[in-house]
Amino acid sequence: MPAVKNTFSRDLVAWQLRHGRHDLPWQGSRDPYRIWLSEIMLQQTQVTTVIPYFNRFLERFPTLASLAGAQQDEVLRLWAGLGYYTRARNLHLAARYVVDQWGGQFPRSTTELESLPGVGRSTAAAIAVFAFGHRAAILDGNVRRVLARHAAISGNVREQSAQQTLWEIAEARLPSRSIEAYTQGLMDLGATICTNRVPRCGDCPVARSCAALALGEPTAFPVRAPRASRTARAWMMIVVRRGKHILLLRRPPQGIWASMWCLPAYDRNADWRALLARETAVGTGAGMARAQPLTPVNHELTHLSLSIEPIELWIKYTVGVPTVETRWVTLTEALDMGLPVAVRRILQAIDKPA
Ligand code: ADE
Repeated sequence: MPAVKNTFSRDLVAWQLRHGRHDLPWQGSRDPYRIWLSEIMLQQTQVTTVIPYFNRFLERFPTLASLAGAQQDEVLRLWAGLGYYTRARNLHLAARYVVDQWGGQFPRSTTELESLPGVGRSTAAAIAVFAFGHRAAILDGNVRRVLARHAAISGNVREQSAQQTLWEIAEARLPSRSIEAYTQGLMDLGATICTNRVPRCGDCPVARSCAALALGEPTAFPVRAPRASRTARAWMMIVVRRGKHILLLRRPPQGIWASMWCLPAYDRNADWRALLARETAVGTGAGMARAQPLTPVNHELTHLSLSIEPIELWIKYTVGVPTVETRWVTLTEALDMGLPVAVRRILQAIDKPA
């Protein structure tokens, strides 16, 4: 389809130059470190949320070497609130990997970029385009929607065969020049015009060649199978208090909130007193002064719907040695750490009782 390809990329580039976004903090630089950082943050998070995080992160870690030399806890602390914390752990791993394996210079090819933890095919392409001007195709969630609509792809976009078709379309439409404006234009179009529910087809630069619009049904594409619903989980969370301090433990390296500092959390049906005693050496017998329930908190994660019953447990001493990594911190210190949002909410309610 050379005709569609030509009008699509020409119209998109012209529109991006006049109407697209040009002042985002990661634009105007070819520094692969900044571009990589922005692309990782933007993988599952919107631009307006990312901007302050991006600026704070760069202030603390202005170079790849400074990030590679950081403690994981500090990286997680700067990430707190952005969600999808695997991204932060991978970011840190990738920084160390580039320093160790590539002498601190980012690799330039998409294949080599894809070897970095947390960098998939589309992110590798975005970095190669914006940092090195390479001609490579991106296909993130927004671009998938734009292309599935424009080409009226009737398959379920979550399935392999439709994904394959979309990658082929993404590759086939790459222009021979202005790859940066083209790539940014695809992102800008997806974020501002070709939006999920109410696309602004009247303002769209590629409306004249859009197959979904020609069918009169722009929002019928992309075709999606319904998402599996979230699994419900009921948890206890224990705010163990000893004098001025509360107890935090590090979550296991896999699963929800992997490796993050957290309040002790247990399935509501489990024998949480025994588990707490075993993991953290908090004696739940004679040393305990009083326990009281706190306000329940509901929290939605991508695949889980958490209903949390927090309780406050005042103790006088601990018995034995914890089997997990623990820390006693003040409430103020805890609120300053990179804790999961649900945990912060519980601690904030204690900090400022209603
Ligand atoms: N989403 C993913 N990458 C982006 C970028 N570089 N600019 C704006 N939105 C994006």
